[in-house]
Amino acid sequence: MEETGEALVRLENVEKSFGEKTIIKNLSLDVFDGEFLTLLGPSGCGKTTVLRMIAGLESVTEGKIFLEGKDVTSLPAAKRDVNTIFQNFALFPHLTVWENINFGLKMNRIEKSEAEKRIKSALRLVKLTGFEDRFPSQLSGGQQQRVAIARGIVMKHKLLLLDESLASLDLKLKRDMQVELKEFQEKLKMTFIYVTHDQDEALTMSDRIAIMNLGHIVQLGTPEEIYKNPKNAFVKSFISDIDLINFKKTRMNRYA
Ligand SMILES: Nc1ncnc2c1ncn2[C@@H]1O[C@H](COP(=O)(O)OP(=O)(O)OP(=O)(O)O)[C@@H](O)[C@H]1O
Ligand SMILES: [Mg+2]
Repeated sequence: MEETGEALVRLENVEKSFGEKTIIKNLSLDVFDGEFLTLLGPSGCGKTTVLRMIAGLESVTEGKIFLEGKDVTSLPAAKRDVNTIFQNFALFPHLTVWENINFGLKMNRIEKSEAEKRIKSALRLVKLTGFEDRFPSQLSGGQQQRVAIARGIVMKHKLLLLDESLASLDLKLKRDMQVELKEFQEKLKMTFIYVTHDQDEALTMSDRIAIMNLGHIVQLGTPEEIYKNPKNAFVKSFISDIDLINFKKTRMNRYA
């Protein structure tokens, strides 16, 4: 087995082509245990494709993917200790909120009392206590999104992949959920790989950010590093709207 140091996830020279078109080009990335890493970049740059390859939902054309030091490049999704919350957060329409969140727990034969404890705690986190018996069609888009988040976190996998998971929430709820998700991730010492094209969200939540463009990582660093030393005009243009003083204040308030 190749040594990946303390990296929980390692992408080694990963490439992805759909037909003739190469979408991801020679991408290497280490994500460490307990880290909140964000993939930030414009629409179409390949963020979802990278997440899908880590989850095992998309094959890798070239290169390797390691999870906890183990080469999982050809391992099917079900055998990877990873949970994904997708952009379209497809819930089961015929199952209630409770049953939707319980689905994975049941499949994994988690003991009933433990499952109940986790579901209740997840419902509190996403502010949906009292909504247990509703069906997805009886919820707003934002509420459905929060059910999807709850469904992802109850599994307590080490690695959670989140694809634009807060995008459809209104601003106030989005800000609250950002703080709570971050607290949750730190408390459970989980590793999050978070996809967004919201720069403010990336800068305030992440330990490190990988700025992507056209299938490449253009710059990888802490929010401060990227903000202070954008590597090129693209990165600069991507984060230039943020006022640093305000940004620092927000971060300090949030995580004081
Ligand atoms: N199954 C597929 N077949 C062919 N092309 C695909 C497929 N999936 C994705 N692509 C292409 O790969 C590129 C990257 O797509 P991807 O969904 O990874 O982008 P993204 O960064 O997640 O964008 P967004 O922010 O809009 O969600 C796009 O040009 C897309 O059209
Ligand atoms: Mg996407």
